[in-house]
Amino acid sequence: MRERFRVLAAAPLRRGSRALEIGSGPHAISTVPLAHRVGRHGLVVAAERSRWTHFREVIDATGVGAAIAPVQCDARRLPFPDASFDLACCVHGVRSLGTDAEVIQVVREMLRVAGVVFVAESLPDAPTDAVRAHQAMYGLRSEVFEATTGRADDHPYRSLSGLVRLVEAAQGHVLDSKVLPMRLPHALAFFPRSWVERVPEATRRAELLARWDAADQLARRHGTDHPPVGVVIAGP
Ligand SMILES: C[S@@+](CC[C@H](N)C(=O)[O-])C[C@H]1O[C@@H](n2cnc3c(N)ncnc32)[C@H](O)[C@@H]1O
Repeated sequence: MRERFRVLAAAPLRRGSRALEIGSGPHAISTVPLAHRVGRHGLVVAAERSRWTHFREVIDATGVGAAIAPVQCDARRLPFPDASFDLACCVHGVRSLGTDAEVIQVVREMLRVAGVVFVAESLPDAPTDAVRAHQAMYGLRSEVFEATTGRADDHPYRSLSGLVRLVEAAQGHVLDSKVLPMRLPHALAFFPRSWVERVPEATRRAELLARWDAADQLARRHGTDHPPVGVVIAGP
């Protein structure tokens, strides 16, 4: 959540703003910093397709729940009228949207309902060994999820120019794009070796286990740090 506070400091928000968050996720990690930014006279609508596990607990425990309205919906078709928000943001959510076509569809909807769109996502860069360790473990997630459940998630990070291209393909007029260096410890990419042991096909399992062991070694040697984050700010 510290990292989300830093990322959202770059978002054009004021106290009293009405913000829409796309893909708020089960832990409200960006929702809480957003609620702090807009204050008690502002509003954060948290749009999420399905994962609400600890959402209510987290927003209640942090004391900002009154400014947050959770809405279950598919962001490819947002249930809001045109221009109903000051800002629509998607923080570390592009990784869950999947294909370019899906990202473009979601950004197009964000541009329809808000005056400004803010997209932030980790980049594939590895400026230090500790970030390289994060990238090695993170890079396995999508492949392991797909091999065990048939559904990929945590897709590979895109470059900043790739994120800009997607926003432009959604007819966004890019106002700013930049890289935020993070230099924060970051263990969230980790997942247990036992998940890889469930891969049914033996050759694939052996290959993924070898890569998991190499990533784990890197993490033990260097620790894991957050990658730099790319930010794209655009208007319709
Ligand atoms: C990586 S997670 C959480 C990101 C969160 N904003 C954060 O800061 O950690 C992204 C979330 O986007 C949700 N999601 C994926 N596709 C979606 C869609 N089409 N509409 C709404 N939510 C979606 C997923 O269910 C997931 O909970």
